[in-house]
Amino acid sequence: MLSTISSAFPLILLAASQASAQSSSLSFYEGVIATGTMGTTNPPEPTASTNINQTSYARLLSLNSVDDWCIFAPPYESTISDSETFEVAWCTQPRNNARVIPDGTITGVSFLKTDMYVQILGYGDLTKLNIPYGDYGGELDPHGAYGSGNPEGGNVTTNVVGEDINIVEWMLYVSYEMFCIRACIQANETYSASAMCWHELDEMGCQFVMPGNYNFNGTFETCDADVAYPPGWYPEVESDGQTSFSSFAQYWTGVVDGVTYTVGDTVTPSSAYSTPSSSNCVTTSTISNGIALASLTSGAVGTVPTSSAGGSGTASRSGSASGATVSASNAASPSFCASSSSHYGGVFFTALMSAVTAVVFLH
Ligand SMILES: *[C@@H]1O[C@H](CO)[C@@H](O)[C@H](O)[C@H]1NC(C)=O
Ligand SMILES: *[C@@H]1O[C@H](CO)[C@@H](O)[C@H](O)[C@H]1NC(C)=O
Ligand SMILES: *[C@@H]1O[C@H](CO)[C@@H](O)[C@H](O)[C@H]1NC(C)=O
Ligand SMILES: *[C@@H]1O[C@H](CO)[C@@H](O)[C@H](O)[C@H]1NC(C)=O
Repeated sequence: MLSTISSAFPLILLAASQASAQSSSLSFYEGVIATGTMGTTNPPEPTASTNINQTSYARLLSLNSVDDWCIFAPPYESTISDSETFEVAWCTQPRNNARVIPDGTITGVSFLKTDMYVQILGYGDLTKLNIPYGDYGGELDPHGAYGSGNPEGGNVTTNVVGEDINIVEWMLYVSYEMFCIRACIQANETYSASAMCWHELDEMGCQFVMPGNYNFNGTFETCDADVAYPPGWYPEVESDGQTSFSSFAQYWTGVVDGVTYTVGDTVTPSSAYSTPSSSNCVTTSTISNGIALASLTSGAVGTVPTSSAGGSGTASRSGSASGATVSASNAASPSFCASSSSHYGGVFFTALMSAVTAVVFLH
């Protein structure tokens, strides 16, 4: 059953628009820039050219370009569902004190930049990142059952806006053969960052939550793209010409701490409302880091061999070297699950289903 949400959200948005983070020349809508401290396993800021440490427990993803990004995967062989609280960062380059993804692991990447989010879709042999063959994986996000993220203390930055920013809202789906990651870099009165990176549709899959061109395996591309509707939102034009949105909640029934919960709608849509188009695509021949595989075996530690320093080079985007972070003067709690009603004024959740507390347990 699809239930209707009003498009205007007037009450909430009045409050939301008052707080925005200020940087040199950039400003961000409320709910975009993270102001908390980094997870305890992470460097204080994104750091390029760190040493090799294939035993690292660092959990800082930087999503910068087609050949400079990271993903969460298990520290040792484990399914995603068993390891979601303690997965670690694996990066294409040696950075953030994280583990390095061995060359040859990733077979295709589509790096998309939109006004509202940066998105990385990818294919590869992720058994090389400890995901068992055939594991259809799961979803990770900054909320988690304990409100400290899945994985706990996991953080995300990007420099696609011209400097490093710490992102509040992101979602990552990963299986043994593909992944998709979205970090929400901007928001507006229509789309909050938490709606655009909505993280509770964990059984719907990449094509549903992050619609786009998935026919890129074998190539590495960077594109601009139109903004998708938030996951699960379906626009409808009302008779007065205004657009409203309907949505749905993923069905789930099960037992949490001895209590049986059933939430969501039994009939759910099978596809996103639309697939945003991409443009200005540029293809990169390789995203190789050039580091010999022998230096990246399980448990390896050390400096990056100098012979690989030339490698394919790290992609650098303008003005991103400082690692400066942006802080919001009056940001909302980044712990969305604990205060979900303030983000939507209750409208969204009550319209969806009544068992909001159960939803909090699940993610
Ligand atoms: C790091 O992640 C935690 C858990 O989601 C969050 O509370 C904190 O604000 C994040 N810090 C930064 C700088 O992103
Ligand atoms: C590698 O990472 C582990 C866990 O994060 C840390 O304890 C260890 O000191 C690191 N080793 C080196 C050589 O940096
Ligand atoms: C918010 O951004 C989306 C995507 O660019 C756009 O369609 C929408 O009109 C914007 N809303 C407002 C109030 O500017
Ligand atoms: C992507 O391409 C690689 C290399 O051709 C192939 O082994 C793999 O099965 C493909 N992945 C998917 C999901 O089709």
